[in-house]
Amino acid sequence: MTPHVVPDPQAGAAVKAADRAHVFHSWSAQGLIDPLAVAGAEGSYFWDYDGNRYLDFTSGLVYTNIGYQHPKVVAAIQEQAGKLATFAPAFAVDVRSEAARLIAERTPGDLNKIFFTNGGAEAVENAVRMARLHTGRHKVLSAFRSYHGATSTAINLTGDPRRWASDTGSAGVVRFWAPFLYRSPFYAETEEQECARALAHLEDTIAFEGPGTIAAIILETVPGTAGIMTPPPGYLAGVREICDRYGIVFVLDEVMAGFGRTGTWFAAEHFDVVPDLLTFAKGVNSGYVPLGGVAISEKIAATFETRPYPGGLTYSGHPLACAAAVATIHVMEDEKVVENAARIGETVLGPGLRALAERHPSVGEVRGMGVFWALDLVKNRETREPLVPYNASGEANAPMAAFAAAAKKNGLWPFVNMNRTHAVPACNVTDAEIAEGLAALDAALTIADEHTV
Ligand SMILES: Cc1ncc(COP(=O)(O)O)c(C=O)c1O
Repeated sequence: MTPHVVPDPQAGAAVKAADRAHVFHSWSAQGLIDPLAVAGAEGSYFWDYDGNRYLDFTSGLVYTNIGYQHPKVVAAIQEQAGKLATFAPAFAVDVRSEAARLIAERTPGDLNKIFFTNGGAEAVENAVRMARLHTGRHKVLSAFRSYHGATSTAINLTGDPRRWASDTGSAGVVRFWAPFLYRSPFYAETEEQECARALAHLEDTIAFEGPGTIAAIILETVPGTAGIMTPPPGYLAGVREICDRYGIVFVLDEVMAGFGRTGTWFAAEHFDVVPDLLTFAKGVNSGYVPLGGVAISEKIAATFETRPYPGGLTYSGHPLACAAAVATIHVMEDEKVVENAARIGETVLGPGLRALAERHPSVGEVRGMGVFWALDLVKNRETREPLVPYNASGEANAPMAAFAAAAKKNGLWPFVNMNRTHAVPACNVTDAEIAEGLAALDAALTIADEHTV
């Protein structure tokens, strides 16, 4: 359990004051935010300077897959810092080679080469660049209801409103609707219909865009931030088949879904598909040191065997980040973290969330797997009207804000996006921690219920 923490509000106030004076935060109106000053974290918990402790049902930004401060990973980073803190990417470095080997051995199929980046967006940028060079084509198809990162191409591929302000940058991005039965864009009533119609829609999009112009289709294997929509059986295999038919590169973005989150090393395993390129980040080393990358198939790697790849990063395969990845993967193997995520999803978290849905009219749908779950909150179960409108802010978002405040009051830090809360704890979360989180969610959903009609 968490060590005894002595509250120190004065220190907290100083941290907060310096933050407010000098830190410019992501995605925020700087004058309207009030960031919590964090004093420390361990395992599934973090705490502030006032003596409040929170169970983290967000895993940071869905990345601390082995929880905070795992002693073995912290020690590996310290050891690497003492041995070789950094080295340029053009050289072969033991810990970089080993991280690449361990990752390649766990990715599906023949994704045997690893290009390292500093995070997920850069992985997406480079996957798209590889696909364009490999095919000699320019267009890239991505799904509405997606998130692929905040750099120029990645934000343009993104389907959520964070793209809108930056929508100018990437020629050739074409968006389509991926399957999501609960809010079906295809008026489907069954998973089979949704799958067939989504594939037909994708084929039509390709036909009208010109198959010979399309370099890649990028999909999150299980879309994360956009709502944790597990694709229906056959959908990803169908996309694979379409890509093969038209010579299109299939990119699966596993930045969020990868490294144990869905109860397998990579979510693609659930669907028996092998992409041509797979992007990863976050869980690869639980974010202890920034790291991401692209796992590359033999076919695409061959394109760059004698032709230089025109892309690179000063910190590609940074030794501290790679040491953290090697240690994290060993911890995940030794402590059966992936198996734990699968078991928790099947026997504790999934059933627990479904039981909450039975009691709370504000829960429209429970969906997910492993430690990757969404509660779709609604005003009314019949109409499925979301509890707050799409991209709501201020007063319009008050029901979700009240829900989040109630969760925090009960010691749970919830992941909230639009009308959804996601239950995305660490992959090594315990049964007792899940029980604690479900109890806090139960109380907070009572507040959400007040906004149902
Ligand atoms: C699926 C997916 N792709 C890409 C990214 C971008 O990763 P990063 O924030 O490390 O650039 C994210 C981040 O949440 C993500 O969820």
